[in-house]
Amino acid sequence: MSSAPHSDEQMANQTRIAMEQHSQRLVTAFIAGGLLFMLLPGTFLGVWNLIGISQQRTLSSLSPAWLQAHGQAQIFGWIGSFILGIGFYSLTKMQSTLTFPVRAGWTAWILWTLGIALRWIGGVTGWQWRVLLPLSGALELAAFLLFFRSVRRHRPANPASRMETWMLVVMAATFAFLVALIVNLVTLMHLTLSGTSPALPHVLDQQLVVLAVWGVLVPTIWGFNARWLPVFAGFQKPSGVRLLVAYGLSVAGVLSVFVQALPIAAVLFLLAAFLAIDALHVWERAIQPAKLLHVHKTFPFFIRIAYVWLVVSCVLTALAIRSDQAGGLWGASRHALTVGFVAGMVFVIGPRILPAFCGMRVLWSTRLMFWSLLLLHVGCALRVTLEPLAYEGYWSFAWKLLPYSAVIELTAVVLFALNLVVTLLHPPAHLSPATHPTTSTQSAA
Ligand code: HEM
Repeated sequence: MSSAPHSDEQMANQTRIAMEQHSQRLVTAFIAGGLLFMLLPGTFLGVWNLIGISQQRTLSSLSPAWLQAHGQAQIFGWIGSFILGIGFYSLTKMQSTLTFPVRAGWTAWILWTLGIALRWIGGVTGWQWRVLLPLSGALELAAFLLFFRSVRRHRPANPASRMETWMLVVMAATFAFLVALIVNLVTLMHLTLSGTSPALPHVLDQQLVVLAVWGVLVPTIWGFNARWLPVFAGFQKPSGVRLLVAYGLSVAGVLSVFVQALPIAAVLFLLAAFLAIDALHVWERAIQPAKLLHVHKTFPFFIRIAYVWLVVSCVLTALAIRSDQAGGLWGASRHALTVGFVAGMVFVIGPRILPAFCGMRVLWSTRLMFWSLLLLHVGCALRVTLEPLAYEGYWSFAWKLLPYSAVIELTAVVLFALNLVVTLLHPPAHLSPATHPTTSTQSAA
C-alpha cells in the first residue's frame, strides 16, 4: 500500500528533472545564439563601422543600413535572445503544471535565430532586401508570439498571491517587446513597398531604437534587478511604488520621443533613472553581505557603475538635444546606455546566473569576469568621451584614439564570450569533483 504514493512521488520527480533538462538545453541554445550575434554581426560590425567612420572622419560616410544592422544584431540578436532564453527557463520555476513547452520553445528558437540572421544579411548585403527584411520581421514576431503564448499558459503556481513589483515590470517590458516587434514588422513592410534601400528613415529608426532600449531592455533590467539584487548583492529590498513610478516615467519618455517632444523625453528619462536608482537602493550601503561564491568580488561595484552609465546617458541625451551637430553626442549617449548600462549589466549578472541556468555549471573564471567588465567600462569611457570630441569637431586628435576604444570593447566582449563558452563546455557542477553543486544551484535560484 505504501509503494503507490512513493512511486507517484518518484514519477513527479522524474518529470521535474526531465522538465529542468529541457529548459536547460533550450536556454543554452538561446544563450549560444545570443553570444554569436553579439560577437560577429554585432560587435565586429560595430568595430568595423567605427574604424570606417574614424578614417573618413565623418559619421555620414557609412551606410545607414550597416549601422542599423549592427544595432539590430546587438539589441534583438544578443540581448533579445538572452531575454527569450531566460524567459523560457523561468517557466519551469513558476508554472503550475509539470509540462515544459518543448516544441514551442525550439520552434521559437529556430524562427527567432533565422529572423535575426535574415535581418542582418538583408541589411548588410542588400541582397533581396525587399523580401528578407519583412520576412525577418515576421519570423521574429512569430517566434515571440510562441514565447508569449507559453508564458500566458503557464501561470504562477499560486495565482492567488499578489503579484510582486518586479514581475509587473518584467511583464510590462515583455508586452513592450511584443509591441516593438509589431512596429518593426509594419515598418519593414512599409520600407519594402516604398523605400529605396534596406535602411529605415533616420528619425523612425531612432524612435524604434528608443522603443527597444527604453521600452524593453531598461525595464527588463530594472525588473530582474529588483528580484535579484537584494539576494545577490545584499541591497535593501526595492521600493515597489517608486520603481513603478520610475517605470511610468520611462514609458512617458518613450511616448514623448514618438511625438518628437525630445526635451520632455530627456527630462522624463533622467527622472526615471534617478527614481529607479533610489527605488532599487543601488547607491546605498548594502544591508547584507553580497553572495560572491563563483563570481568576482567586485560584483556589487560593477552593478553600481552600470547605473552611473544610465545617468550619464540621460545627461548626454539632454546635451545632444541642445547642441548636437554631427551625431557625436547622440552616439555617446546611446553607447553610454547600450554598452555602459545594458552590456555592463549583462556582463556582471550573466556570469552570476547563466552557468546555473544552463545546466548547474560553475563559472569557469572569475578573473576573466573581472577583466571583461573592467575593459568594457574602460572602452566605454573612452568611447563616450572621445565620440563628441571627434564627431563634433572639438578635438581632431580624438579621431585617432577612437578605434582604440572599439578594440578595447571588442576585447571585453571576446573575454565575456570565452568565459561563458568554456563554462558551458565544462561538465555540470554535480559531475565535477572539484566543485560544490549545491552552492551554484542554490545561489542562482
Ligand atoms: C562593443 C563595441 C561597439 C562598437 C564599437 C559600436 C559601434 C557603433 C557605431 C560606430 C555606431 C554608429 C553610430 C555612432 O557612431 O555612434 C553604432 C550604433 C549603434 N549601436 Fe553600437 N557599438 C558597440 C556596441 C554596442 C552594443 C553592446 C549595443 C547594444 C546592446 C549597441 C547598439 C547600437 C545601436 C542601437 C546603434 C544605433 C543603430 C541605428 O542607428 O539604428 N552597440 N555602434
